Amino acid sequence: MENVIDPAVPESAGMFSALSTGTPSCYTVSQRLRSGYHAFWYRLGEGLRWSRGIYRERPAVQLSALADGQQARIAFLRRKFTVRFERYCEERTALKSYEYLDILNQAWTAWGQPRPTGVVVHDVGSSNFWYARVLQSFFRPSSLTGVEVEGYRIYANGYSRWDYAQGYVQGLPQTSFVVSSYAQYDQKADVVTAWYPFVTAAPVLAWRLPLALLTPHAIFSRIASNLTATGLFVMVNQGAEEAAIAANLCRAAGLDQRWSYEVPPTIRSRHQRPVVSCWSPISER
Ligand SMILES: C[S@@+](CC[C@H](N)C(=O)[O-])C[C@H]1O[C@@H](n2cnc3c(N)ncnc32)[C@H](O)[C@@H]1O
Repeated sequence: MENVIDPAVPESAGMFSALSTGTPSCYTVSQRLRSGYHAFWYRLGEGLRWSRGIYRERPAVQLSALADGQQARIAFLRRKFTVRFERYCEERTALKSYEYLDILNQAWTAWGQPRPTGVVVHDVGSSNFWYARVLQSFFRPSSLTGVEVEGYRIYANGYSRWDYAQGYVQGLPQTSFVVSSYAQYDQKADVVTAWYPFVTAAPVLAWRLPLALLTPHAIFSRIASNLTATGLFVMVNQGAEEAAIAANLCRAAGLDQRWSYEVPPTIRSRHQRPVVSCWSPISER
């Protein structure tokens, strides 16, 4: 089937006005200064909407030097999901892809429910959507849309996130990458995923973004209103502490927790264990 890549959606007036209002006084002077600096580059990138053309990673074909545990787990995932990420991307991206697939698979296995397949899936805050193939493999969606607010960040090689995203979604059925704040993205979905959404200030600055983009309530509220009656929000957080903050924000936005699972060490080592939680709109329970 044909690839769908939506044309860049210009940043909404709402997002720019949020940036121009500055940052709340609860932040330190240092945080505000860093935020202002990042806001300049963010605005420049979104204003330029730079594209050097589609960027395709050179496929690794084979994975080298895997530890025994990694090898066994990857072999299991390859069999279960009929995937070979290394045929489409570099080794590093392939390993990260197996890790994300493993996280979803372990969490769903622990929950013991069938995973929703053949449905409309949104991913919130997709970066350059390097894991589009993971979501395709797991959900086999009828359509998959990655929504990223900073879609035109420029990398050292002169390509932008947009260029990379076009390479990653190429050949995937009904898959698109949209540059927009999800808070303003008004489309229905059966499943919404969010990998490591921002819920505190430190990661926003670490990702070189302005603090005006820390709007979890607006994002989670939009997720709640975009979800269909039986829809699911699948969130992955960095460790139990961040997951607890995110959980309170989800509840405040009208979402109800169905289950939560702290994933044991998986294919790549991490400082903090990923916590996967699944949510549905409160009115439907
Ligand atoms: C911690 S990063 C995670 C990136 C990606 N999900 C991953 O796992 O590699 C959070 C991402 O959310 C994006 N983001 C922040 N606010 C957003 C919003 N309102 N709408 C869409 N994306 C947003 C950021 O630009 C960043 O790419």
